Amino acid sequence: MSEIAVPGAMTTLDPAEQRPQDIYKLLVGSVVPRPIAFVSSMDAEGVCNLAPFSFFTVASVNPPIVCFCPMMRGATNSGLQPTKDTLRNVIATGEFVVNIVSEEFATQMNACSAELPPEVDEFQVSGLTPLASELVRPPRVAESHVQMECRLQQVIHVGTEPLGGSLVLGEVLRFHVRASLLDNFRIDPEKLHAIGRMAGSTYARTRDRFDMERPK
Ligand SMILES: Cc1cc2nc3c(=O)[nH]c(=O)nc-3n(C[C@H](O)[C@H](O)[C@H](O)COP(=O)(O)O)c2cc1C
Repeated sequence: MSEIAVPGAMTTLDPAEQRPQDIYKLLVGSVVPRPIAFVSSMDAEGVCNLAPFSFFTVASVNPPIVCFCPMMRGATNSGLQPTKDTLRNVIATGEFVVNIVSEEFATQMNACSAELPPEVDEFQVSGLTPLASELVRPPRVAESHVQMECRLQQVIHVGTEPLGGSLVLGEVLRFHVRASLLDNFRIDPEKLHAIGRMAGSTYARTRDRFDMERPK
């Protein structure tokens, strides 16, 4: 294998000496691109909630478990509760839906990230279409090409200070995939047009890809 050049000097940082908002910048600038879980949930009174979370991944295939991480709000959003609506809802009801975000409704997804009070239904704010789920109460996002109905498996509270996160693990009870994208369980990325989040207000498309076989 040909040698690659080691690029240059490193800046070394001790997180204990940094402000949380600067650590946030280091993390979201490094862990890129991040897929986005567009999570629909419902409170005990039946008010729908929709919010994007890019701290999102697969935790297990067997059983199928996905996870995302709502963080605690900081003092700057003092009008709202520190715990985000999504986290309160999934703890209260044990149910949520993860909808995958495509370029086509990125603007509407972004509208749902506004820090809105719990009584506001983000389906109405964004104009996205609620679609009844089969097994859970929160509706799916009809515009999304992949929707996963989830039952809460566990919540792990990792940090309680502002920007502290909780890991929400949910078992997928139903996959709904747009039929035109699905071929023998494979989802066509060319039609999915999934987006990922970079730092700040920057996003990545998934149109530029390359293949590489794993060594045997
Ligand atoms: C693309 C995107 C990804 C986001 N990812 C996260 C995340 O992983 N964790 C988090 O706490 N907030 C994240 N946010 C901010 C939340 O979406 C925002 O705080 C939202 O208002 C939370 O809504 P809720 O209170 O209805 O749950 C993200 C925002 C955007 C636009």
